[in-house]
Amino acid sequence: MKKAAKLFILTAAALLMCFCLAFSACAEKTGGEPEPDKTEESGGSGGEERQDFGDVLIVYFSATNNTEKIAGYIADITGGTTFELVPQTPYTADDLKYYDSDSRVYKEYTDASLRDVPLVNATPENWEKYDAVFVGYPIWWGGASWVLNGFITANDFTGKTVIPFCTSAGSGIGSSDTQLKEMAGTGDWKAGRRFSPSDSKSAVQSWINGLQLARS
Ligand SMILES: Cc1cc2nc3c(=O)[nH]c(=O)nc-3n(C[C@H](O)[C@H](O)[C@H](O)COP(=O)(O)O)c2cc1C
Repeated sequence: MKKAAKLFILTAAALLMCFCLAFSACAEKTGGEPEPDKTEESGGSGGEERQDFGDVLIVYFSATNNTEKIAGYIADITGGTTFELVPQTPYTADDLKYYDSDSRVYKEYTDASLRDVPLVNATPENWEKYDAVFVGYPIWWGGASWVLNGFITANDFTGKTVIPFCTSAGSGIGSSDTQLKEMAGTGDWKAGRRFSPSDSKSAVQSWINGLQLARS
């Protein structure tokens, strides 16, 4: 083989080896997977460590999935278990037309005697074991959806920290959190937090970082 050809093959082999070494070092660092979105995980507020809330339960009602999305973020962040409150007769799209005086929600709103909404299950499994309970709901006419009432009145919150959260199109949480607290009569209820349906996981993370509920 000619001298020039030999030199070419040796140089190519050396370059290939360098490339392999660099790639394997990189794969080892990342575990071979794309790096997670750190901003999303940490909420950009420096709170990467998961707080120890004890056993966490996230109970929620959600007619159009906005509150469910926030509940899912809370579960991801806290490592908690979700429990959805499901009406025995679910709300259809027509039922939710609050601007229509013939709709189910409008009738329930204007006639309090219709607001007793039976749930498929009002008591989460292993209720006794939970230390912290997040309670989520949509705002209906400025207050908490009455679908929550069956869950609130069926359970004893003694010894639990309770953290309300809600979603709405624009209204604030108002006194919906304190009204639920009064309805419950037991438990250590914290001030609630309203989210917009478009709020991100990092907004939820920042809120949870600020709760300062971690057990010592
Ligand atoms: C019956 C009804 C009443 C509502 N009342 C209000 C309200 O007073 N203020 C507001 O900002 N949004 C109101 N909304 C909008 C919901 O609060 C909002 O879409 C919420 O994110 C729905 O949550 P969900 O998808 O978990 O059911 C109402 C929606 C319905 C169906």
